Amino acid sequence: MKIIIASDHAGFNFKKMIGTHLEGKGIEVTDAGPDNDNSCDYPEYAFKVARSVAEGRYDRGVLICGTGLGMSYAANRVKGVRAALCQTETQARLSRAHNDANVLVLAERIMGPVLALAIVDVWLETGFDGGRHQRRIDLIDQL
Ligand code: RB5
Repeated sequence: MKIIIASDHAGFNFKKMIGTHLEGKGIEVTDAGPDNDNSCDYPEYAFKVARSVAEGRYDRGVLICGTGLGMSYAANRVKGVRAALCQTETQARLSRAHNDANVLVLAERIMGPVLALAIVDVWLETGFDGGRHQRRIDLIDQL
């Protein structure tokens, strides 16, 4: 599995932590920036990741900002992207099983690092259930 990850300044520490965590599991991770925690604009990074996933260059994307809100607003503007802001492991599991989320969004100013890594693991390990859920996803793309 190939994953692309990015953040803004407020998600920079989680980006480094999650990248290291995923590489430790043997997952190929591309860091789309930023390179430091200087103040920056989250839409730039959200679009980089969202477009890469929508174009099929990566299997999944991970985005982190302070609240997770701005990143999810921006990423979900890209057709074909289903970006899920998850604050619990249950949301992470269901965002995959029911919504086939292809981008995970996390909030560094809201949650702790242990929970964030648990959410990442559940999100990556859970498959899509398909069936009636596929029909609903298709309806989103028809909009
Ligand atoms: C940055 O200060 C903060 O606004 C950003 O990380 C994010 O929370 C926006 O939704």
